[in-house]
Amino acid sequence: MSVIGKPMNRVDGRAKVTGAARYAADFNQPGQLYAVIVSATAGLGRVTDIAAAEVERAPGVVAVLTHRNAQKLPYLPHKAGIDPAVGERLHVLQDDNVRFYGQPVALVVADTLDHAERAAAALRITYESRQPLVDPTDQRAEKIIPEAANRTRALADRSRGDADTAVARAAVRVDETYDMARENHNPMEPHATVAAWNGDRLTLWSKSQYLVNEQAEIAAIFGLPAENVEVICPFIGGAFGTSLRTWPHVTLAALAARHVGRPVKLVLTRKQMFFTTGHRPRTRQRVALGATPEGRLTGIIHEGMGETSRYEQFMEALTNVTDYLYSCPNVRTQYRLTQLDTGTPNHMRGPGEASGIFALESAMDELSYKLGIDPIELRRRNEPQMDEAENKPFSSRSLMQCYELASERFGWARRTPEPRSMRDGRLLIGMGAATATYPAFHAPASARVRLLADGIAEVEAAASDMGPGTYTSMTQVAAEFLGLPPEQVRFRLGRSDYPQTPSHGGSWTMASVGSAIRAACVEAQAQAARRAVADANLPVFGASVNDLEWSEGRLRRRGEAATGLSYQDIVARTGVPVEAERSAERASEVAERYSMHSFGAVFAEVAIDLDVGTIRVRRIVGAYGIGRVVNPLLARSQCTGGMIGGIGMALMERTVLDARDGRPVNAHMADYLMPVNLDIPKLEALFVDEVDPHVNPLGAKGLGEIALVGTAPAIANAVFHATGRRVRALPIHIEDVL
Ligand code: MOS
Repeated sequence: MSVIGKPMNRVDGRAKVTGAARYAADFNQPGQLYAVIVSATAGLGRVTDIAAAEVERAPGVVAVLTHRNAQKLPYLPHKAGIDPAVGERLHVLQDDNVRFYGQPVALVVADTLDHAERAAAALRITYESRQPLVDPTDQRAEKIIPEAANRTRALADRSRGDADTAVARAAVRVDETYDMARENHNPMEPHATVAAWNGDRLTLWSKSQYLVNEQAEIAAIFGLPAENVEVICPFIGGAFGTSLRTWPHVTLAALAARHVGRPVKLVLTRKQMFFTTGHRPRTRQRVALGATPEGRLTGIIHEGMGETSRYEQFMEALTNVTDYLYSCPNVRTQYRLTQLDTGTPNHMRGPGEASGIFALESAMDELSYKLGIDPIELRRRNEPQMDEAENKPFSSRSLMQCYELASERFGWARRTPEPRSMRDGRLLIGMGAATATYPAFHAPASARVRLLADGIAEVEAAASDMGPGTYTSMTQVAAEFLGLPPEQVRFRLGRSDYPQTPSHGGSWTMASVGSAIRAACVEAQAQAARRAVADANLPVFGASVNDLEWSEGRLRRRGEAATGLSYQDIVARTGVPVEAERSAERASEVAERYSMHSFGAVFAEVAIDLDVGTIRVRRIVGAYGIGRVVNPLLARSQCTGGMIGGIGMALMERTVLDARDGRPVNAHMADYLMPVNLDIPKLEALFVDEVDPHVNPLGAKGLGEIALVGTAPAIANAVFHATGRRVRALPIHIEDVL
C-alpha cells in the first residue's frame, strides 16, 4: 500500500485552525430565532404551574413552550439505531411529569440569545416534588436483570465450568469490590441544533455522530417520512459518544421552529450538558480470582452493576472482556442494572470495556502481588490460545508483543517490585501496567465515488468526524484504491442524504465506511476500464478488460510500457462522470469463524508527594495491536487522547449528585475536574506490526475506544506500587493515599 499507512496531515486541518470549519451552531438561517431550555429544578414529581404569561411579555420573547401548549407528537417507533433496546425515550414537553433533575420543562424562544436567556431565567415554575433515588448503592435501589442483554452487545450472565467452586478452592485468591464514579462527556463543542422547516420538510444543522439515525428518529417523533428530514453536520468538536443518540434538544429545536414558523437555533449550556445528554454510568463490580501458586488462573467471577433510568435500560459491555481476556477453565460473569431517577446513561469512550477492565486488571495486579509474580509474567502465564468463551481462534492477537514492546520502551526492567521501594527525592514513584482490549466491529456501510472530468474523485458517505480524522483517513483509503494522489480525492461526509453509514462510534468507522469506500473505488475503476475499451478514440479500444491493468491510477495493457490513461483521459471524452455506489459488510462466515478484538498494553508511572497527597502521572507508554494502521499520525493522536481520558478517569472525573434532589452539584467545568495541559506528561503510543487478514479487506481493526481502555487501571496499579495502598474506587483522591 502506498497511501494507507502514511503519516498524512489532516486534510481539514487548515479549515479547522482558520475558523473555516463550520460546526452546528455556526449555521445561521434567515429570520432565525434563539431558543433556551428551562431545566427542571426538581428531581422527581410534576410541574404544577408555569407562569408563562409573565415572560411572554418580556422584551423580544416570541414564544414560551411548555407541556400545555406544545404540539402533541406521535413519537412513532423506528428501527432502533443506538437507543436502548428496552424502554421508551423521553417524550419532551408532552406531559407534566418530571423524571429527573434537569429535564427540559419549558423552552423560551426570542429574537436574540440574550432575550431568550433573560426570559428563561425569569420563568417561574412550581413543582410538586418527591425525593428521587439517585444512588445505585442505596439499599432501596432494586437490581434488575437487563432484559435485552445477550441480544445487544452487553452480556448479562455467562458461565463456563464452575467458577464459584474453583475460586473457593483456589490456593491463592483475590475477591474485591471496585467502584467507579459517574462521568459526563465534556467535549469542547456543546450540543447544538439549528432547525428550519420548509412546509413539512425539516432541515437540521445538528451535532451528530449518527446522522441517518437522527434523520430517522426525528422523522418518527414527528410522524414524517424519513426523506422529509435532512441532517447536516460537517464538523464535530469532540463527542466521545454523547452525540450517538438524538437527545431531547433536537426535538425541542424542531418543535419550536414549527411553533413559531421560523428557523430556531438551540445550544445547550455547559450545565445542561450534565442533564439530558447521557453519562458514563456509575458502576460497582466484584471480581474474584482464584489461581494456583504458579499463577495459573483456575476461576474468575466478575459481577458488575451499572445504573440506568426509570424509562430506559441502558446496557454496556461491562463484563464482556472477562470472558475472553485470559485462559481459565471456570469463568462466571453477571451484569445487573439499578433503575434510578436520572436521565438515561449513554456510551462514553470505551463504554463497558473501560469500566470492566478497571476491575479485572486491578484484581490481576492484586493477584500478582499475592503470588509474588511479576504482573506481566502473570499475564503471560494465562495467555489463551483461543477465545475460550466462544471456542474460536482470534483473528489476530498480539497482546504479548504489545507487552514486550511497551515494557521495553517504558523501562519496566528498572522497576523494583516491592511497593514503596522506588523514590525520587521525597516523591514515591510507582509503575503499573494493565491490558487494553476492544472488539473489532464491522457494520454495514455504503459509499459513493464519482470520477470527474477534471481528474478529481469525489467520495461521499453519511459519516461523521468527531475528531479521529475521518476526513483524512477516508481520503487515504480512496486515494489508495483509485491509485490517485490524495490531493485528487475530495471526501465529503456529514449529510444524511449521502450513502448510509452506521454510527460514528464503536471504533468501527474505518472497518465499515473504509471497506465501503474501497468497494466503491474498485467498482468505479472497473467502470472506467469498461468505458475506455468501448471508446474508439482511446488506445485501449476493443481490448478485453482482463488484458488491462491499473497502476497508479492509469490504465494500460498488461505489461505494456506506455504511460496509460488516467481517469481524466477517460472521463473527459464524454464529460459524464463515472459513478459507483457500493455497500460492504463483514461476511457472516468470517464473523462466525473468528473472535475479533484489538489488544494493547498500557504502562504508567506516577509520582506521589505524600506530604500533600498529590498524584502526578509522569509518563504513559501504550502499545497496541490494531491490525493495519491507516495513518500513524492520526492513530497516535487517538491513543494519546484516550490516555488523557484515562488520566481523567483515574484521578479526576466524577459527577456528584445531591442525594436530596438528584442535582449534579458540579455541573460545570470548574468543579468537574478534567486533565489540562499541565496534568499531561509525555505520552507515547506504539503499534505492533500486526497483519489481520480476516477482519476486513483493509486489515484495520479500528482505533478509538481501546485508547482509553487500560489506562485507568495502569495508573491505579502504579499508585499501589508507589504507596502500598490499593485504591478500589475511581477517581483516586488525594486523601486515598495520605
Ligand atoms: Mo464512541 S463511545 O462509540 O462514540
